[in-house]
Amino acid sequence: MLTDKPRMSVFGLGYVGTVTAACFAYKGFNVVAFDVDKGKVESLNQAISFIYEPELDEIIKQAVSSGSLKATYNPNYAIMNSDITFITVGTPQKVDGKIDLRYVEDASRMIGKALKDKDDWHLVVVKSTVIPGTTNNVVKKNIEEVSGKTCDRDFGICFNPEFLREGAAVHDMFYPDRLIIGGSEKSSSYLLNLYNMFYGEKMPETIITNAENAELIKYANNAFLAMKVSFINMIARICQKIPKGDVEVVAKGIGLDKRIGSLFLKAGAGWGGSCWPKDLSALKKFAEEIGLELPLVDATIEINKTQPLILIDFAKELIGSLEGKRISILGLSFKPNTDDMREAVSIKIIESLLKEGAEVIAYDPKAMDNAKKIFGKKIIYANNSIECLKGADCAMIVTEWDEFKNLKPEDFINNMRNPALIDGRRIYDPKIFSSKLKFKAIGLGE
Ligand SMILES: NC(=O)c1ccc[n+]([C@@H]2O[C@H](COP(=O)([O-])OP(=O)(O)OC[C@H]3O[C@@H](n4cnc5c(N)ncnc54)[C@H](O)[C@@H]3O)[C@@H](O)[C@H]2O)c1
Repeated sequence: MLTDKPRMSVFGLGYVGTVTAACFAYKGFNVVAFDVDKGKVESLNQAISFIYEPELDEIIKQAVSSGSLKATYNPNYAIMNSDITFITVGTPQKVDGKIDLRYVEDASRMIGKALKDKDDWHLVVVKSTVIPGTTNNVVKKNIEEVSGKTCDRDFGICFNPEFLREGAAVHDMFYPDRLIIGGSEKSSSYLLNLYNMFYGEKMPETIITNAENAELIKYANNAFLAMKVSFINMIARICQKIPKGDVEVVAKGIGLDKRIGSLFLKAGAGWGGSCWPKDLSALKKFAEEIGLELPLVDATIEINKTQPLILIDFAKELIGSLEGKRISILGLSFKPNTDDMREAVSIKIIESLLKEGAEVIAYDPKAMDNAKKIFGKKIIYANNSIECLKGADCAMIVTEWDEFKNLKPEDFINNMRNPALIDGRRIYDPKIFSSKLKFKAIGLGE
């Protein structure tokens, strides 16, 4: 049983690693954060966050100024000055759709190299999302090979999936629904102790299992949530064909059934982000390798491929040809409260609009810098919602930021050349909006 707070290191300062490192340090754990990206290391040491996440800036400032959080680009230093290492590197998708484990491999080899010279037992915790078998067959194997040490005897290993939601990451770190720990008895109980120290009386329900089950839990979780959203988007398409059909009412009706539940039943322009697209693809490819088909996952992906394009069809119905028309895009990040644009549906929508010959002007409260990296000079960037609407022939709500919810019909009518609005996220009352301007919304029948 651990009595002193273990020292931690975190390998990979993305959304998960930065939030994990900052929150543990904020709670008084000594954390060394390591990344191969020197810019991120320097920025963190100056207490500057390189991602937008509510509450994160304050937490980083406090953690750095108290001396609990330090960043380094020396992996040996990180290992030598910690007892537990979290691997939080990215696990993107290869061109063929399979999981790309190169960063996990690199990180485990770096850890193995440093552990070679370390006498004390050390726990390695894989938090990156990886397909079943990776923790034991890739991470453990690499560490053993490079360090010459034996797992369990000289070091331990666990898989501990991360479920935080971008946009609510700090909240989710402090109040998770549950913890999943996959590993041997010794490693699991070491990690459990760390979490007991972190959460105290607020310790969430915890499932302890082997690494493979824990790895699959993460994929099953994401696939199920994506399936729920694609399901309601499928129902939305039916509603669009029914006079006075409304998916919001249908979703409420089924969501009140406790067996279904109301969460993740919001119809919209489709899902994107840094996790679901690549995780569903990795799960599908993993299943193929073990001789299985996953028809529910296929359908979930298929529905999502065409969902964003419904907004383009709506625009043509409202204003005819899009050639030379100015289209205003409100919302670029893949969901509200983040600046992350990875696999955001806004990208697909904007590319389609440009192909149709439209002129695109866009605004997002936080993702403008990331958008500029993606679209460069191909689109126009507005400084606020109203500026984005000026002179436009059609406006599309692509991300449901709160500030867009406050826009009134008059904001569209008074600023647009041709007030036509497409609500891709169902944030407006159709009764009010459709009586005042040309209006279409996902899952809304004529
Ligand atoms: N973003 C999320 O909301 C979320 C939620 C749950 C789980 N996950 C999973 O967590 C993992 C990390 O996701 P993310 O979005 O934080 O990733 P990210 O792409 O934002 O960041 C990954 C970081 O790892 C660094 N890196 C790469 N190789 C490294 C190495 N050898 N050593 C140290 N650092 C290295 C990169 O420079 C980068 O800063 C992924 O597997 C993802 O699927 C992400």
